[in-house]
Amino acid sequence: GKSGYDHYMHKEIHEQPTALRQCLRGRVDELNGTVTLEELDSVGSVSDVQLVACGTSYHAAVFGASLLCDRGVHATAMLASEYSSERVPVDSSTLVVGVTQSGETADTMRALREANKAGGETVAVTNTVGSSAARECDHALYIRAGPEIGVAATKTFASQQVALTLLACHLGGEATHELVRALRDVPDQIQTILDTSQATSIAQTYVDSDAFFFIGRGSQYPVALEGALKLKEISYEHAEGFAAGELKHGPLALVTAETPVFALVTGDDEQARKTVSNVKEVKARGAPVVAVTDGRSDVDRYADHVLEVPPSTDIGTAITANVQLQLVAYWIAHELGRSIDKPRHLAKSVTVE
Ligand code: F6R
Repeated sequence: GKSGYDHYMHKEIHEQPTALRQCLRGRVDELNGTVTLEELDSVGSVSDVQLVACGTSYHAAVFGASLLCDRGVHATAMLASEYSSERVPVDSSTLVVGVTQSGETADTMRALREANKAGGETVAVTNTVGSSAARECDHALYIRAGPEIGVAATKTFASQQVALTLLACHLGGEATHELVRALRDVPDQIQTILDTSQATSIAQTYVDSDAFFFIGRGSQYPVALEGALKLKEISYEHAEGFAAGELKHGPLALVTAETPVFALVTGDDEQARKTVSNVKEVKARGAPVVAVTDGRSDVDRYADHVLEVPPSTDIGTAITANVQLQLVAYWIAHELGRSIDKPRHLAKSVTVE
C-alpha cells in the first residue's frame, strides 16, 4: 500500500535514500575508493558506448553518456525510437546499453535486438530481474530500486543515475575516493532535502503560471530535461527543459513574467558562472527564478527563491537537485488536483512502438 502517503509517487520519492543504498550495496569500497561490478566483468574491450532509452530513462542515458565522455570513453545517448543499427555503426567493440526501468519498453527492446543482430555487445540497465531486456542482453546491471507503482518514474531515475555512474567508473578506469564518498553521502543528503524542502511553497506561489522552464548545463542538463518531463506528465502544465546555453538560440523568446525559470546551478566553476549569466538574462525579461543550488555560486543574489542541495561532486548534486524538482512537480500537480499516480493518456510500461 501507500504507507500513509497520498500517492505512490510521493512514497517512492521518499524511498530514494533506501533505493540508492540498495543500488550501492557491495558495489563500492569506501576504504579503497573503488567500484566493482562483477556483472560486467566479462564485457570485452569497448571503443564506443551507445545508450538507448525512452523518456525519463533517456535522461538518465544522457547523464550516463556525459560521465563516460568525462572519463575518456566515446559515448552517445540516443532515443530508442530514433535508433537504428543500420544508421549507427555497430561492431563487436560497440557496447549498446539499454536503459529501461521496466525492461519491457518496445522501442528499447527493438534497439537492443538490432544491436545484438549487428554483433554488438549489450547491457540492460534495468530494475526488473528476468525482464525482456535482461534476457535479450549479454549482461544485466540491476538498479535495485524496488517496485515502482506510480506511472511517473522517480526513484528508478535516481537509481539509474547511480547505476550509470558505477558503469562509467567500471568502463572508464578508476573511481576516486571523492566520488565514492559523494555516492555514499547521497542517500542522507536526499533525506535532508525530503525533511526540509521548500518545494510546497514554491508550488503554491507558481501554480498558476503560463509555463515552466528548466535550465542546466553539464551534469545538470539532463536534470533540467527530467524536471520538465516530470512536471508536464503529472500536472499537464506546459514545461520545457533546455540546456542553459541554448536559451538565446530561441527559447528566450518565450520567457515572460508569467514563466518561472528553474535554474540548476551547482558548483562554482565556469559552467556555474555561465548559468548564472543566463539567470541574469531571464531576470531581465521579468521571469521569476527559482535556483536549485548548493550555495557555491552567487546565483542566490539574482534568484527570487532558492531550493537548497548539499554541496557535493557534480554527480552528487545532479542526483539531489532532481529530488527538489520531483517535489516541485508533485506539489504543483497536487495543488491542481491531478491524478498523480495515473496521469491521463500514459501507461507505466509502453509495449508498443
Ligand atoms: C516518465 C516515465 C517514462 C519512462 C519511459 C521508459 O516518468 O516513466 O518516460 O521513463 O516510458 O520506460 P522504461 O524505463 O521502463 O523503459
